[in-house]
Amino acid sequence: MDNKNVEKIERRTEEDGVIFMSIKNENDIEKNKADDITILAIESSCDETAAAVVRNGREVLSNIISSQIALHTIYGGVVPEIASRKHVEKINGCVRAALDEAKLRLEDIDAIAVTYGPGLVGALLVGVSEAKALSFVTGKPLVGVHHIEGHICANYIEDKTLEPPFICLVASGGHSHLVYVKDYGEYDIIGQTRDDAAGEAFDKVARAIGLGYPGGPKVDAAAKEGNPEAIHFPRAKTTEKSYDFSFSGLKSAVLNYLNQAEMKGESVNINDVAASFQKAVIDVLTEHTIEAAAEYGCNKIAIAGGVASNTALRGRLEKECKDREYTFYRPSPVLCTDNAAMIGAAGYYEFLKGVRSGMDLNAVPNLPLGNRERRYHGRS
Ligand code: KG4
Ligand code: ZN
Repeated sequence: MDNKNVEKIERRTEEDGVIFMSIKNENDIEKNKADDITILAIESSCDETAAAVVRNGREVLSNIISSQIALHTIYGGVVPEIASRKHVEKINGCVRAALDEAKLRLEDIDAIAVTYGPGLVGALLVGVSEAKALSFVTGKPLVGVHHIEGHICANYIEDKTLEPPFICLVASGGHSHLVYVKDYGEYDIIGQTRDDAAGEAFDKVARAIGLGYPGGPKVDAAAKEGNPEAIHFPRAKTTEKSYDFSFSGLKSAVLNYLNQAEMKGESVNINDVAASFQKAVIDVLTEHTIEAAAEYGCNKIAIAGGVASNTALRGRLEKECKDREYTFYRPSPVLCTDNAAMIGAAGYYEFLKGVRSGMDLNAVPNLPLGNRERRYHGRS
């Protein structure tokens, strides 16, 4: 990377703690063609302040992520009030950096996409307010995007050939959904968690075995040193015919195992606990996903969300898909965890469908996926 623009942003990284992720080099960025749609996207639903510029839903011109993980680590989890304040501090810098890196000005942007739910209400509000302000002053259309839809659409960025229909397993800190992606923006939820999300279970177990926050990557690393067959933890079955998940029983089984070992004065091999717990989660996620693909006659399987960056889950699904000659799609880890490029991808397909949000767009902390009404909310 020898161009001036990149050097400048790398300096900004050091000064402001903004993570700069170059997917494209300035020299590779071609000029917009007349029918290109370039979207400025904003994401602030949890503990990452992010802005990105995405062309035609699949080409990432910039992807800026300011992560608050270090800040929340001392509290062992995300503190909503702190997250909101940090978003306010970081959001302008992220938007500026995203435009700089894309070598574009606000005037060059066709629309502004923003996550408006689900997520932490105070955190979402920062992104929504920023996007509304930018839309108001520039007159550019505003497109409200569902966070989970964004996670799913990260797959369109990673693999430019992927088209619906496909089955997508979405596993993040707040959600575990099995989704049949019928078409762009058309989702049938065929299974979801009845209690804890998969990422939440990773985070809670990590805390219990003393690995700290954020748990997922730490359990992933510890599991590599452990034996997944060492301890048999339960695989939750809801009902026979259901694709729903349940992880709270598994979490309790891990806590019971730790308590009993402590009472008996036995030592615990943390790596074995991590590997055995992780295997129990992956068995259920994989089994449901593969069964759903067979039932829906779908030979394309995708994964999304923070847990989709888990190396063992990726390896297992890769193998299961290969055995059945299914095609397996998985975004790079940086596109699995929260980012704004995925919101730009989802926003593009919503934009093409005519979705326009009004100045009354609000943060919706428990926004359901596939709620048709939201498509026409505030349509201009
Ligand atoms: O998608 P995401 O960044 O934020 C939400 O929308 O929730 O997901 C964050 C979740 C956290 O629970 C984190 O522990 C989990 O994803 N995670 C992982 C891994 N990396 C992140 N879980 C398992 N293995 C990983 N490598
Ligand atoms: Zn997320």
